[in-house]
Amino acid sequence: MKHPLFLSVLLAASPLCAADTPAQVFQIQCAACHAVDQMLVGPSLVEIAGIYRDRPDEFVKWCIAPQHKREGVIEMPSMAHLGEPVLRQLHGYVIAAAAGKTELKKGQGDPYSVPRAMVRRPQVQRIFLPDASPAAIAVALPGDLSFCFDAAECRLRYVWKGGFIDGAPYWKANGSSLAKLDGEVVYREPSHPLTPGTDDPLATPKFLGYRVGKDGLPTFRYRRGGVEFTETIRPLPDGTGIERAFTTEGKVAQMVTIGAEASISSSTGNFAITAEQSKAFTLTFRWK
Ligand code: HEC
Repeated sequence: MKHPLFLSVLLAASPLCAADTPAQVFQIQCAACHAVDQMLVGPSLVEIAGIYRDRPDEFVKWCIAPQHKREGVIEMPSMAHLGEPVLRQLHGYVIAAAAGKTELKKGQGDPYSVPRAMVRRPQVQRIFLPDASPAAIAVALPGDLSFCFDAAECRLRYVWKGGFIDGAPYWKANGSSLAKLDGEVVYREPSHPLTPGTDDPLATPKFLGYRVGKDGLPTFRYRRGGVEFTETIRPLPDGTGIERAFTTEGKVAQMVTIGAEASISSSTGNFAITAEQSKAFTLTFRWK
């Protein structure tokens, strides 16, 4: 492997938007179960638009208190926490997204009949995951990699390959049990790879939230050792690893990255990032 772990300096970081658009809310709250033109866990937007096109009130009512209607599907979790105004916007979004689309016939849209990268869109789920604090966020990347970001420790925990999450136990038990990973863990990170020179090992990292970009991928914001980070994780185009784009604000004298991790093949270990570079840079991790 020629470039086991390399560093490149990016000029600009993606800005964080002030508020979530209906498309972003849909992506985070609904997309795991609803696709535009085919049944996933729940019915397609085409089917939903057919029922609710001119009935926004009923749509909102359903989302606040979903019923058991179809055979052989799980119960939809209540979306009451989003509030009525947001649910109304989602109604408009769903109708617009379904406009001009038709339902794919069974089999036609089989996600396994075409490369996953072609069909899978990013997903972000707050969920209980194995080997993470209760504040875990699961993210499905385009392609076949997913990762678990631990919002309590403000760091990437692990990456797995395959499907996303088998959420059934989680949804059924109202969050009291762990979701199961639908795939195999290919990388585990023992600690955050960046240690600011100013780091106080006793200071608790602070999670500051995340925003979903136009590409559906989340950018996490957190503070460690007096430095404010943003981190966006993307799959490498060939699926052999991930690229992590960081920006930092605050006093970064120098940072050391720790890449020594058995599952990163021929990792070269530690290197320093200068204060100037630390404003925006990318780390690449490969494992095959
Ligand atoms: C965990 C999976 C899941 C999530 C997340 C989810 N839904 Fe659903 N949804 C379902 C399932 C399953 C059904 C079908 C339930 C049934 O028919 O018994 C459904 C049905 C629906 C329906 C159709 C109701 C009808 O009359 O047939 C609407 C509308 C809907 N969902 C909207 C939403 C919106 C909007 C969101 C996000 C804010 C959302 N859902 C998030 C699983 C989900």
